[in-house]
Amino acid sequence: MKLLTIIGARPQFIKAAAVSREIAKHEDINEIIVHTGQHFDDNMSDIFFRQMHIPKPDYNLDINSLTHGAMTGRMIEKIEEVLLKEKPDWVLVYGDTNSTIAGSLAAKKLHIKVAHVEAGLRSFNRRMPEEINRILTDKISDILFCPTDTAVQNLQKEGIGKNSLAQIVKCGDVMQDAAIFYSNMAQKPDLELPAKFILATIHRAENTDDPERMNSIFNAFAEISNDIPIILPLHPRTKKIIANSKLITQNSQLIFINPVGYLEMIYLLQKCSLVMTDSGGLQKEAFFFKKPCVTLRDETEWVELVEKGFNEIVGAEKNSIISGYEKMIQIKPDYNINLYGNGEASKKIISKLKK
Ligand code: UD1
Ligand code: UDP
Repeated sequence: MKLLTIIGARPQFIKAAAVSREIAKHEDINEIIVHTGQHFDDNMSDIFFRQMHIPKPDYNLDINSLTHGAMTGRMIEKIEEVLLKEKPDWVLVYGDTNSTIAGSLAAKKLHIKVAHVEAGLRSFNRRMPEEINRILTDKISDILFCPTDTAVQNLQKEGIGKNSLAQIVKCGDVMQDAAIFYSNMAQKPDLELPAKFILATIHRAENTDDPERMNSIFNAFAEISNDIPIILPLHPRTKKIIANSKLITQNSQLIFINPVGYLEMIYLLQKCSLVMTDSGGLQKEAFFFKKPCVTLRDETEWVELVEKGFNEIVGAEKNSIISGYEKMIQIKPDYNINLYGNGEASKKIISKLKK
């Protein structure tokens, strides 16, 4: 079987690392990896291939730093060329980025089967580019690999899988596979770590592109960091915005660092007291590493974390962020519950594709 994997953004490298490790165990699968180039800095891309031993991409399309239409359009054109040459049996896409929709659309127009890993997630906020990417990808995929029951139900409500056009498979979460496999390889980042700290990340467009939201988020961070240091690995998108703004960032307890590799990120997750983020993946990783999470968004796709009290949704309003921090830094939830599978999602995915 020839399987063509399309990845391009940081979270996709982490998800694909788990699945590619499983693929490598099967001599009868030939995996071709296409990197769209969406993320391109060493610490946003290559570091994950090195640290997580992901096979070197067979193609790098070097398409990035463009508007949504231009980026997606150019990706479709270049991916189509690769697909015509490689003629894979399956195209494997991950998550909800522009690389995901470009890959699935290019494949389906050539009548190539598409498997979507992390299917069925919904924020029900159609202003998010990711929501559009995932709705459209789910609509045209042949197999939808869902991490949770909620994801399965979301697809069923949309009528997906009702006819024989598509199949829904609940397989668990490939990020859980990665967290389990790499957790004992955690690496201390190259900085002096405070005894206690919050790990924070901010990169979501709905925050970075709204000066009012950014202002209140960073005012809240400034205040919270008087209590406990905050370590913030800065996404390049956020770094650019901060460089051009007057946000409060001068504070010795608000520690900006460059993006780190996955192994350093795991170390920070293991050592931190709390996670504050607008990332999708990090909300789950906080749970994997038994840390409460405060989410700086108005909604989440990972609703089970909120329902069970592991995650508090606070939006971007200063007082709401501070109250969320005060509440979550004190709680000690029981993490002894299985929400995302037992680390065998990748195995289930490959076994299903082989059938
Ligand atoms: C993308 C995904 C988002 C995902 C995030 C993961 C879409 C629509 N968005 O958002 O769902 O959560 O990746 O991190 O696909 N940049 C660099 N160096 C890099 C990467 C990006 O400088 O290595 C800059 C780009 O030039 C651009 C900005 O960061 O100016 C945003 O990059 P882009 O890939 O468009 O979107 P993300 O915000 O990273
Ligand atoms: N991550 C990382 N280094 C960082 C910040 C995040 O390795 O400096 C990892 C994080 O642990 C998670 C993934 O990147 O596995 C999440 O990606 P991101 O937040 O960029 O995207 P999202 O999940 O929101 O789509």
